[in-house]
Amino acid sequence: MQRILVVDDAEINRELLRGILEEDYAVEMAADGEEALQKLEESRDTTAAILLDLHMPKKDGFEVISRLKENGWLQKIPVLIISSEHAAEIENRCFEMGVSDFIHKPFEASIVKNRVRNTMELFAYKNSLEEKVEEQEEELRKQHRIIEMQAEKLRGTEPFNRLMMEYRAAIMEVETRLKVLNEEFSQMYKRNPFESIKSRLKTPASIYGKLAHKGYPVTVESIREHLTDVAGLRVICSFPDDIYRLADLLIKQDDFILLRKKDYIKNPKSNGYRSLHLILSVPIFLSNEKKYVKAEVQFRTIAMDFWASLEHKLKYKKDVNDTEEIEAQLRACADSIEKLDYQMQDIRDKIDLPGAKIPYTEVVRAWVSAGNFGKTMS
Ligand code: GTP
Ligand code: MG
Repeated sequence: MQRILVVDDAEINRELLRGILEEDYAVEMAADGEEALQKLEESRDTTAAILLDLHMPKKDGFEVISRLKENGWLQKIPVLIISSEHAAEIENRCFEMGVSDFIHKPFEASIVKNRVRNTMELFAYKNSLEEKVEEQEEELRKQHRIIEMQAEKLRGTEPFNRLMMEYRAAIMEVETRLKVLNEEFSQMYKRNPFESIKSRLKTPASIYGKLAHKGYPVTVESIREHLTDVAGLRVICSFPDDIYRLADLLIKQDDFILLRKKDYIKNPKSNGYRSLHLILSVPIFLSNEKKYVKAEVQFRTIAMDFWASLEHKLKYKKDVNDTEEIEAQLRACADSIEKLDYQMQDIRDKIDLPGAKIPYTEVVRAWVSAGNFGKTMS
């Protein structure tokens, strides 16, 4: 039998409630708040519900609720207020403090029984859900620890460290080619085709996580074969046509190989994401060999980059409400950004001095929209 604690200073009320409930529950009783808290100290884990009067000597009902709240018991044990109080203000205050329900005096046996049963069932369900969530979180934490441990093992091995050195070299290689183009353009046309380059090496934990998730073995060979984004670069341009011009110039370098292209500018993702992704195979020159290594280069405008960073932040925020509305707003922003990017580009075309104009703006645009991207432009 589940145990219920009835707290009321009037003996007649205690007896009435005992009479109604004792068929289904083991009924404990207390005559004031202080006695109630004392009894709870002894039998907190076995008490399944508390029926609590508000007006009592020594400690009143509010003090008891505050105490239960303080030490976290209110989360575990449902409290039903038994009161002749009908003022909405007082009821609301109780609900705000976290009580589960109200039972008004005079007591009607069937209502008392139903309210108590419903509240207890609801609480048991809520507690079991919380336990499940806790178990799942513990499981995730365990998996996270395993990933960290495996990543630590990876980090310590010589072949892995050498592989990471190669990816770092690939980042430097791509960065240098881009910087050379920037130099040339700024000298010839007084304009830079990109604003900045960001680069990052995938962390051991992220490498391990991605391979494990996709069901691939975690070995140096497997990383080389299955992962294309260990070396990652992000090129931030001012204008959309700079993206295509730069990307094309990079691909045309005769020792760079284009393995894959995803044009999320021409075909935006459903969330509004726009960027041009290239998976390249690039040569690195080591002391005794030339080796090809994969690198992922993402091209975006400044505005697209601002959007992507914000969207990325929101995606990993678990406690954001109204996600549908936020998603719709993000899509609308992405569309506005595209319009803005092309408007700015048109303005630039109008004010560019003839000599400062990087050639082929229109040609490049027509050629890209004809679906020729990645082919050599004669
Ligand atoms: P990943 O497994 O995430 O690498 O995706 P993928 O291999 O299918 O490749 P994809 O080219 O679609 O995405 C590669 C990278 O682009 C991601 O790792 C992100 O950095 C970025 N990216 C892709 N889609 C989105 C998006 O919707 N929002 C944001 N903020 N970034 C994205
Ligand atoms: Mg990827």
